[in-house]
Amino acid sequence: MRQKIVGVTNTKGGSGKSTVAIHVAHAAQEDGKDVCVVDADSQGTVKDWANARASDRQTPEVIYEDDPLSLHGTIERLQHELVIVDSPGGLSEMTGEVLGVSDLTLVPVMPSVLDLWGMSEFEEVLKDQMERGLKVALVTTKYNHASKLGEQMADHIEEKYPYYHHFAGGLCSRVVYKRQMARGQTVLEASDEKAKNEVRVLYNAMTDLLYDE
Ligand SMILES: Nc1ncnc2c1ncn2[C@@H]1O[C@H](COP(=O)(O)OP(=O)(O)OP(=O)(O)O)[C@@H](O)[C@H]1O
Ligand SMILES: [Mg+2]
Repeated sequence: MRQKIVGVTNTKGGSGKSTVAIHVAHAAQEDGKDVCVVDADSQGTVKDWANARASDRQTPEVIYEDDPLSLHGTIERLQHELVIVDSPGGLSEMTGEVLGVSDLTLVPVMPSVLDLWGMSEFEEVLKDQMERGLKVALVTTKYNHASKLGEQMADHIEEKYPYYHHFAGGLCSRVVYKRQMARGQTVLEASDEKAKNEVRVLYNAMTDLLYDE
């Protein structure tokens, strides 16, 4: 099977990109996939997470590459069947490079119309890449599951952005994400079943879209 590349992108900082990248990578590993995470953000969040991880825990391989000119070559040399690429916030050269190498991009969006408005410049880049076959899925993140806002956002996204896939379940706002990331772990290693379930649902939606040719 051909290698698949999933970039996690959004020009909006703090939307949950690194959290999504690490969680889908860990879910892939749990699913028996040979997965690697490329940390393409000079902040090095994925690298820091891997460094915080206990050495006796199975960990997806993490490669750090913050030079946009080298990203393509770095990924080309990887043999893994699935590569997840975490990208920086801001509309940088790196974001364009990540989209350029990806089969699918997950775009974490927080439940605020302001965050969607902030995407307009990024949308132009996404649309160009969609023309060459990039699949785009918005992933709702950091929303309060007890509030109606998540649902309202889902309706808004489906009405205004019908040309994107949308994983409305996404990842709720839960302290367990912060806690587990700080320990170099994911929620798949914690006891919160709701959090585990939403990660697996997201991973399954991602693979359905990725392998649907
Ligand atoms: N589902 C969630 N529930 C609770 N907190 C979350 C969740 N997802 C992310 N966070 C928190 O929100 C902050 C930003 O998350 P993260 O670093 O994943 O975003 P990012 O888009 O990668 O940010 P940047 O643009 O700086 O790279 C972090 O403090 C993280 O712990
Ligand atoms: Mg990040």
